[in-house]
Amino acid sequence: MGAQIRPYTDWDAAAVERIASASEIQVVSFLGAEKAPLFVATVDGEVVGCIWGVLEPTVDLDVAVDRGHRRKGLGRRLVYETLSVYELTDREVTLTVTNPTMERIAAELGLMSDGQGNWQGTISLPAKARPT
Ligand SMILES: CC(C)(COP(=O)(O)OP(=O)(O)OC[C@H]1O[C@@H](n2cnc3c(N)ncnc32)[C@H](O)[C@@H]1OP(=O)(O)O)[C@@H](O)C(=O)NCCC(=O)NCCS
Repeated sequence: MGAQIRPYTDWDAAAVERIASASEIQVVSFLGAEKAPLFVATVDGEVVGCIWGVLEPTVDLDVAVDRGHRRKGLGRRLVYETLSVYELTDREVTLTVTNPTMERIAAELGLMSDGQGNWQGTISLPAKARPT
């Protein structure tokens, strides 16, 4: 079965809540704000990662992957799936980024840093990293 990215469903709520609370970031959807889970990453059917987002008025994404499943490309795939499915390319966005891996992903997408964790610009998906 391997690793997959698929849309979030209500059945994933408990797993996603566990991932959020085990993560170094605070996912605001669990603090009552409107950021919602969009996609999950699974390995052999088990939910091990999630991306949350609000898309309007600006794109704001949070992503977390369980420690035991990092550095397998799942974080990147969650970001690219979201950008692709929601057609967020060719649109001015601001991403708030707190993690070196995510900084590299923001730079790879063509965004520019203001030096304070805000990356702005128009997203373009590099052909090599497009989700299949
Ligand atoms: C940030 C986070 C989501 C990244 O998740 P991830 O699944 O490890 O991300 P990826 O696997 O796509 O990329 C991680 C690194 O592994 C590398 N990698 C990807 N596939 C790999 C593989 N098969 N073998 C070895 N390395 C691999 C990537 O190139 C990347 O390297 P880099 O950090 O030097 O750029 C994860 O570290 C996390 O949950 N952190 C805590 C929460 C957080 O900080 N979220 C971001 C807020 S902005």
